[in-house]
Amino acid sequence: MKKIAKIFLCVLFISISMISCSQGNKGGKISNTNKTLIIYYSASGTTEKVAKELQRKTKGDIYFIKTNMPYSTDQEVLGKEMALERENGNIRELSGELPDLSNYDLILIGGPVWSGEPSNPIQKYLSITDFNGKKVAGFWTAYGEPGDYANVFKKLVKNVELHEGLSLINTDVSNEKELESKINTWLSTLGIL
Ligand SMILES: Cc1cc2nc3c(=O)[nH]c(=O)nc-3n(C[C@H](O)[C@H](O)[C@H](O)COP(=O)(O)O)c2cc1C
Repeated sequence: MKKIAKIFLCVLFISISMISCSQGNKGGKISNTNKTLIIYYSASGTTEKVAKELQRKTKGDIYFIKTNMPYSTDQEVLGKEMALERENGNIRELSGELPDLSNYDLILIGGPVWSGEPSNPIQKYLSITDFNGKKVAGFWTAYGEPGDYANVFKKLVKNVELHEGLSLINTDVSNEKELESKINTWLSTLGIL
């Protein structure tokens, strides 16, 4: 009788272990082994809105790129600061500790288009980061003309498995339905939704 009880307990233990394992796998496609990090810069909040929506959808982590000196909030002055830094090949430094990428499988990097290219802080971040073969995709927002953003981004991003980016214009971002639809389509192509 004792033997039968032992066998019964053994079978019960194995069954419970199998059930909890299978439930663990059901916890959505985003798990500890498929984690997303959203890294972004935003001067006036448009890309930030997209970044936050991406975080909400992916349940990933989010990191805002800061510069050691802020850019002007006056667009005209900001344009001059941007141009001067590009001319001199001397973009201002970033501040704060940069994120440790080792815990992430997918890294989404977003920022505004500045004169047809990634904004200076994004250029700076890409120029100092080795992604160590990670899966990376960019997203960007423009008033209307993203220019050469995708190509410049591709040239600057080092050592990655680069996936198709998400190019948005300001009217896409201000239209909630349009934004959600574009984000959903993009995340599906990345295998997230
Ligand atoms: C210096 C500067 C340059 C810009 N260059 C472009 C451009 O080449 N093409 C475009 O469509 N929009 C351009 N814009 C508009 C921004 O890309 C657009 O408004 C963006 O969504 C702002 O994002 P943010 O709020 O996250 O900074 C520029 C804006 C600034 C400040």
